[in-house]
Amino acid sequence: EQFQSPYEAIGGEKVISMLVDEFYKRVANHPDLAPIFPKDLTETARKQKQFLTQYLGGPPLYTAEHGHPMLRARHLPFAITPTRAKAWLACMSEAMDAVGLQGPIRDEFYQRLVLTAHHMINTPEDEI
Ligand code: HEM
Repeated sequence: EQFQSPYEAIGGEKVISMLVDEFYKRVANHPDLAPIFPKDLTETARKQKQFLTQYLGGPPLYTAEHGHPMLRARHLPFAITPTRAKAWLACMSEAMDAVGLQGPIRDEFYQRLVLTAHHMINTPEDEI
C-alpha cells in the first residue's frame, strides 16, 4: 500500500481550503484575536492554505512563494500571549468540527498545532 500523507488523508486541497475559511471566520470574530489581524483576511487565508498544505506533507506551496516559513520570526511583530494561543487553538478546533474532521487524523493534526501554537508565544500575559 502506498504511503498517504496527512494532507491526502484529511482530504487534500478542498478540505484545507474549507478548514482555513472556517478558521478565519472565527478569528475575525474573536475578541482576543481580531485586533492583531488585518481587517481583510483574504491574503492571510491564502498564505495559511499554502502553509498548512506543506505542514501536512502536501506540495511545498508556502516555501515556493515566500521562502522558509520561519514561523516564530514572522510572528514576532505581534504580541502572541498564552491567551491568544489558546484562542487560536479554540478557533481551529471549532473549524475542524465545522468541516467534519474527526478521528486519529484530526487528533494528530491538532496536537501538532498545539505544539506549534505554544512555540509562537512571545509575550507574557501581563504585557498586553
Ligand atoms: C500569520 C497570529 C499561530 C501560521 C499570522 C499573523 C498573525 C498571526 C497576527 C499575521 C497575519 C497577516 O498579517 O496576514 C497568530 C496567533 C497565533 C498564531 C495569535 C497563536 C498562537 C500560528 C500557528 C501557525 C500559524 C500555530 C501554523 C500552524 C501562520 C502563517 C502566517 C501567519 C503561515 C502567514 C505568515 C506570512 O505572512 O507569510 N499569524 N498566529 N500561526 N500565521 Fe499565525
